[in-house]
Amino acid sequence: MRRPLIAGNWKMNLNRSDAVALAKGLADASTPDEVDVLVCPSNVYLDAVSAAASGSKVALGAQDVYFESNGAFTGETSTDMLSDVGCSHVILGHSERRNVIGEPDELINKKLKATLAAGLTPVLCVGELLEEREAGKTMDVVTAQFDGSLAGVSEADVQKTVIAYEPVWAIGTGKTATPEQAQEVHADLRKLLAERYNQQTADTVRILYGGSVKPDNAAMLMSQPDIDGALVGGASLKVDSFTGIINASVPQAAPCSINKPRS
Ligand code: PGA
Repeated sequence: MRRPLIAGNWKMNLNRSDAVALAKGLADASTPDEVDVLVCPSNVYLDAVSAAASGSKVALGAQDVYFESNGAFTGETSTDMLSDVGCSHVILGHSERRNVIGEPDELINKKLKATLAAGLTPVLCVGELLEEREAGKTMDVVTAQFDGSLAGVSEADVQKTVIAYEPVWAIGTGKTATPEQAQEVHADLRKLLAERYNQQTADTVRILYGGSVKPDNAAMLMSQPDIDGALVGGASLKVDSFTGIINASVPQAAPCSINKPRS
């Protein structure tokens, strides 16, 4: 009932021709109909990637947005600008923005509300640092990020939001959370959605896992009941590895039994 979503976060990578070639390769690739696919290039290449993927199932997202609609905000990009170039999604609160650039939950909350008001889908990232996990504080941290980022967001709007659980220690490190570790936090996040909103909301919201997802670990992660897809960094930069993850996100068809010996 929750459609899988595989999202590629290209971060500050690729040049124009590589970004266009990757988008074209993904647009032409055959992937299961039941999986939604999203790519999030640098803002500089949104227009070019939008054109390269147009007419395909590949949706376009930005890696961040500003909450004001226009004006004197040097260096920032508005939701209208993102819609204008064909974006349907915006990643918000990525750990690199939280921990490297220093974005607090209050700012993420304003951006998330502006994103929803513009009819775009936020992909809200939450996740703990290694020392927080080791101190047994994973759910305290994730709950505080959830509450801070979603403060004042209605039930109808949270149902349109995608949440991505990304343990910071697993991002770009090659150290993936085990399917059990990821499932535990995803289940707790769903419980939190039920507590703060209601069960129907908890059943509706897609929760992606992110952190060193690769074609060879995607199927195990995706087979967990509360993992509805992936937010992929490094492995989203090549057509083969990203489509490998997309294909692994749905159960493979049962092997054909026509060669079974007659009894
Ligand atoms: P990674 O990045 O797949 O390279 O670990 C994930 C992310 O930061 O969204």
